Amino acid sequence: MKRIGMLTSGGDCQALNPAMRGVAKTLFNGKEPVEIYGFLDGYQGLIYGRFRLLTYGDFTGILTKGGTFLGSSRTPFKTIQIPGPDGVDKVAAMKQTYYKLQLDCLVILGGNGTHKTANLLRQEGLNVVTLPKTIDNDLWGTDMTFGFQSAVDVATDAIDRIHTTAASHGRVFIVEVMGHKVGWLTLNAGMAGGADIILIPEIPYDINKIAKKIRERHDSGGRFTILAVAEGAISKEDAALSKKEYKKKLEKRRVPSVSYEIAEALREKSGFDVRVTVPGHTQRGGAPCPYDRVFASRLGSEAGELILKGEYGFMVGYKNREIVKVPLEDVAGKLKAVDPDASIVKEAKLLGISFGD
Ligand code: F6P
Repeated sequence: MKRIGMLTSGGDCQALNPAMRGVAKTLFNGKEPVEIYGFLDGYQGLIYGRFRLLTYGDFTGILTKGGTFLGSSRTPFKTIQIPGPDGVDKVAAMKQTYYKLQLDCLVILGGNGTHKTANLLRQEGLNVVTLPKTIDNDLWGTDMTFGFQSAVDVATDAIDRIHTTAASHGRVFIVEVMGHKVGWLTLNAGMAGGADIILIPEIPYDINKIAKKIRERHDSGGRFTILAVAEGAISKEDAALSKKEYKKKLEKRRVPSVSYEIAEALREKSGFDVRVTVPGHTQRGGAPCPYDRVFASRLGSEAGELILKGEYGFMVGYKNREIVKVPLEDVAGKLKAVDPDASIVKEAKLLGISFGD
């Protein structure tokens, strides 16, 4: 008999359910009997012993469902070793739950922060296998995370819809795309949606270059301009600040996000009618796209197979079109950002897209 614990942690995304289904079906279809305990709301369930013994039925009919049927929450890594207001030693509590249930392994689905905690649990002696989820695609050790392609679809749809209204009114539109500290989502949705200007954190922008690009477009007959702006986009001046100085500056920001700052500056510099649209959490919501259903199912079943073979301490990732197992200590704490010299950036520039640099 194998006893497995399963949890989803951090911001949700569209393909968590298909990934868990992939793990569970593979385990249930194995030769050995298996019990799967689902921890509710991420690491919180493991800390406070909130779980449910799951059955085969829990994993049927969920392939097409967004969100996570186990619930999720953010349990920041930076405070994981500090007791909370209730005085609970979180790491000790998680270990206690694991040993009390006599688990053979934990399957943890999450992004960057989640992987740091998963690696800590591994260092503490627990058997852990992880799966890479996030719409940001910023997890080191895998070319792609599940949730990313679904989010690209949503963000692209937002840009497509803005295109038609921008064209009717001859306006400049900014669509702000999620992605935290990296620009994968903006770059891909921006290219798919035909954005004229793409701003990502990895390539700091010069507002004058953006204004110039808009003016040139309008002078050559373009009635409208679409900017895909990453929520983490940063100007050249701000990129030159120290982390501390930039944080202070952000605290004083009068507008909700960088897009509004850019819109204000562009209105002033160019006199254009600039509007901002923020699709926000819709990018994480709704059904997983077909690509993600297949991708997450594949990663999930490979994770199930690792568990059946008793191979622990790995994230199941995707490299050069192959499913791979990556040691957790190699993944934890590393960010995968867009390389400004990557060929996709070069090609976008050849297409005439400006990065404001
Ligand atoms: O990591 C996924 C993500 O959606 C980021 O793109 C975004 O910056 C963040 O989570 C939003 O977090 P929350 O859901 O806690 O507001």
